[in-house]
Amino acid sequence: PKPTNGHGNPRDFIAKMKDSKKRIVIFYGSQTGTAEEYAIRLAKEAKSKFGLASLVCDPEEYDFENLDQLPEDCAVIFVMATYGEGEPTDNAVTLMQNLADESFEFSNGSHRLDGLKYVVFGLGNKTYEHYNLIGRNVDETLEKLGGIRIGERGEGDDDKSMEEDYLEWKDGMWDAFAAALGVEEGQGGDSADFAVSELDSHPPEKVYLGELSARALTRTKGIHDAKNPYPAPISDAHELFQSTVDRNCVHVELNIEGSGITYQHGDHVGLWPSNPDLEVDRLLCALGLYEKKDNVIGIESLDPALAKVPFPVPTTYATVLRHYIDISAVAGRQILGNLSRFAPTPEAEAFMKNLNTNKEEYFRVITNGCLKLGEVLQLACGNDITAQPTSENTTGWSIPFDIIVSSIPRLQPRYYSISSSPKLYSNAIHITAVVLKYESIPNDLVNQRWLYGIGSNFLLHLKHAANGDVIPVAALGGPTIPSYQIEGPRGAYRQEAIYKAPVHVRRSTFRLPTNPKSPVIMVGPGTGVAPFRGFVQERVALARRSVEKNGPDALADWGRITLFYGCRRSDEDYLYKDEWPKYTEELRGKFTMHVALSREKYKADGSKIYVQDLMWDDREHIADAILNGKGYVYICGEAKNMSKQVEDVLARILGESKGGSGPIEGVAEVKLLKERSRLMLDVWS
Ligand code: 2AM
Repeated sequence: PKPTNGHGNPRDFIAKMKDSKKRIVIFYGSQTGTAEEYAIRLAKEAKSKFGLASLVCDPEEYDFENLDQLPEDCAVIFVMATYGEGEPTDNAVTLMQNLADESFEFSNGSHRLDGLKYVVFGLGNKTYEHYNLIGRNVDETLEKLGGIRIGERGEGDDDKSMEEDYLEWKDGMWDAFAAALGVEEGQGGDSADFAVSELDSHPPEKVYLGELSARALTRTKGIHDAKNPYPAPISDAHELFQSTVDRNCVHVELNIEGSGITYQHGDHVGLWPSNPDLEVDRLLCALGLYEKKDNVIGIESLDPALAKVPFPVPTTYATVLRHYIDISAVAGRQILGNLSRFAPTPEAEAFMKNLNTNKEEYFRVITNGCLKLGEVLQLACGNDITAQPTSENTTGWSIPFDIIVSSIPRLQPRYYSISSSPKLYSNAIHITAVVLKYESIPNDLVNQRWLYGIGSNFLLHLKHAANGDVIPVAALGGPTIPSYQIEGPRGAYRQEAIYKAPVHVRRSTFRLPTNPKSPVIMVGPGTGVAPFRGFVQERVALARRSVEKNGPDALADWGRITLFYGCRRSDEDYLYKDEWPKYTEELRGKFTMHVALSREKYKADGSKIYVQDLMWDDREHIADAILNGKGYVYICGEAKNMSKQVEDVLARILGESKGGSGPIEGVAEVKLLKERSRLMLDVWS
């Protein structure tokens, strides 16, 4: 048996709490870091409100046998994200199993948690079917096991209103929490999380300038994963189309040769972007750090259990803003309140406080205007946010840099469905991405402006840089190229830009059936086609091998794979138009493609033709493939409309061909397919 009170057992959170006199333990189920951030924010609030210290825990690093041993004057908070189709995040799998497993004994010898004081905040996304399933599950299970819920469960919707949902939930929760633990507000007070110091004489080769893991400079070996991304050179980058003013699409090939990185068709690649120069300069100016931007700084955590320095140090002010923290996001309502006390003038302070407390005003000006923190700091002082920030254009804000580090979240990777197969391209990962650009809603303080998605514009800039293009003015709001290199003499990179994209691979279950006899239906309009290019390539590679071994009839008993693809016009945004015929030829009739051209061919009544319409036309084949051929269905692309409508048409097709109760049976059939992993989604909102 594992020790439950063993001193020195690093997996014993109760012992750790006792050692460090902590009364709150916060577990986070986090995949991309959002739940972890909220966990840390809760810990900080508990400290500033009540003076209570928390232990913030990755559940993967602890054992749960002694969850029943939490002392009466303590509480546990679960901040749990629901991932994909209602699954726990990777780091919460064991925790969820332990809670659900009735034969799992806590240290009291039973599967009971009587009297355990707990609160849950769930993070989910309403465009997915099982909204916040994991948070709800934890809440219900703990209640069933005898736990005492202190404060209602909170639920955040990542599709729309995560931050507002959190803000709305937390105050009521803290009131209930205070009552349950018998503590009062005002016992805390603000204390810094970090100490920042300028280092005068630091060897330049030991300064982190955008590297994402400490390993990069210490040169210790290690696998490349989310904690240690690989700076992949760009081996090819071009635009697939650049048709209209509002859209372009890039194809980027990352060279992973010698990196030790492997991937499968259907996996995702996490790309770590950097912030635009413009935003970096703006914030440096607003903070009065422009002249000192390249000074080397050290950052130390004052309470490592609560807040670790989220990036490698020593580094520079400019590097932190460019590569490590998310200064390009729309400024949060809470941070505006927190920073108001550093305002240079009473007017600026009032401006910030008003945005913090007046929700309508916040939505009107900040959310709709898509204003970033640097812009808000300028606006508060009456500065022109459209002017190029310069050192004369400072605002006089005196925000200590440690406050910036602790209140702005870490810059997170952006995930893309890999559009290649390792069987055709073992040394490369292909990305296919539409470059995101959209317009803000104007108000009396800011005009309408173009806004640029940070991940896809980073890719576009890499593409321009790799090809030596002149970067178009319109793209100047986009992110900058990372100007760092990991191998080779440091210092040299500063003159010659070496274009690398920091990446890691995230495994997925979005995969072809291993048996090529199973028929496959793939639906992917727009860049939703990305993983299916990988799927088809996978089959092409297999076909080549089979034909080589068994002759030209080797594919005779293979199932048909069918792709439903959609774009606007055949001469505009048809992705990989020249490649598909080659794949069809190599797959000897076992690959069929249906293309919906939504702005070229219309129905008799003039309405648009989409992939779901072509599926309906092909319903006999689809029903046969699924019902008689035990086929597999895959949907990739936009979640809110497309994927829902495709599921609807599937239900109609299956319902009709089963006869009887029609629609109801169709919906049940779709559900069953999902449960059996024969209908899989890779969708985004
Ligand atoms: P549209 O822009 O002409 O409306 C890739 O973006 C393709 O997906 C385009 O042809 C686009 O058509 C189409 N599309 C837009 N909404 C869709 C939906 N709800 N279902 C299927 N396809 C859709």
